[in-house]
Amino acid sequence: MTDSIELTQPDDWHLHLRDGPMLQTVVGHTANQFGRAMVMPNLIPPATTCQQLLDYRQRILAALPDDSQFNPIMALYLTDQLNEAEIREAASNPHIGAVKLYPAGATTNSDSGVSDLQAIYPILELMEKHGLPLLVHGEVTDSAVDIFDREAVFIDRHLIPIINKFSALRVVLEHVTTADGIEFVQQARDGIAGTLTAHHLLLNRNHLLVGGIHPHHYCLPVLKRETHRQALVKAATSGNPRFFAGTDSAPHPKTEKESACGCAGIYTAHAAVELYTEAFDNVGALDKLEGFLSHYGADFYRLPRNTEQITLRRTPTQIEQQFGQGNETVVPLRAGGNRQWLLADSDSNLVNRS
Ligand code: DOR
Ligand code: ZN
Repeated sequence: MTDSIELTQPDDWHLHLRDGPMLQTVVGHTANQFGRAMVMPNLIPPATTCQQLLDYRQRILAALPDDSQFNPIMALYLTDQLNEAEIREAASNPHIGAVKLYPAGATTNSDSGVSDLQAIYPILELMEKHGLPLLVHGEVTDSAVDIFDREAVFIDRHLIPIINKFSALRVVLEHVTTADGIEFVQQARDGIAGTLTAHHLLLNRNHLLVGGIHPHHYCLPVLKRETHRQALVKAATSGNPRFFAGTDSAPHPKTEKESACGCAGIYTAHAAVELYTEAFDNVGALDKLEGFLSHYGADFYRLPRNTEQITLRRTPTQIEQQFGQGNETVVPLRAGGNRQWLLADSDSNLVNRS
């Protein structure tokens, strides 16, 4: 049995850091494990211009210790109003790596998202021209569509037409949760990828609904049935470079999760690399972990792979019940339970920021 593994330092290609006190509470968890992260712009109000995004990036860096090497790469929020000058600016700024498409109302803080996908086709054309990737929250918001089918319907109704029309646009289907999404990514043309979260690799919808409602297992896209989870694990561990890590770690105050209308989002940043490792170890695929965590995402974004190494040891360790205080208290995934793997030297962050 392998008890220790060394990997190139991983990156998290889909992350929510929030702002203000919550940012202070959570950012260190990600910076301790990952070299870079693609930071989502769904703040309140959302970061819809390059300037807002770069100001937000400065607040992220200011929340880190001076010697931290963590490099946040920002995703611009795509709205109905986004103009072409913003796209040109985003494409020329190394700190902005992508544009995020939320169908309006699909998830947390997505009200400013796109209400008519065809209306933003000129923007997609410009992104295609500049090589700026489109990150997609792939769920329809149509109230007639069952929540468990929303990903598959989005792919058929919207995503396939988009990738056919813009044949050189690079697209990431974020947080793939179904066998349909996996099949789409596997069979699509070049330039299409999918991120997978640790929680969708480890949990199915029974973890949300059996024995009571578990609000800390509620996220969007919602957890699916076990056969879908198995399809995600198979894809993640297949060595196919179209699939790479994006945690979608999404902190919410405990009081807003444990509520009559709890918000969507699972917090995994405290142990993301360790949880991915466990998911791969569960199916005997540790040899495929490094590509998924550390290589394929950087390759997709045409960035150099990180050069530093991290070490993980098989060391069952209890996870904290919560992080932060007061209104910023966050309950992490598997609070009070054990992680099976532990990152060594998790205080050293080693990768160049620039
Ligand atoms: O569960 C989720 N939480 N899914 C998302 O798409 C957004 C995220 C958030 O921002 O809380
Ligand atoms: Zn997200």
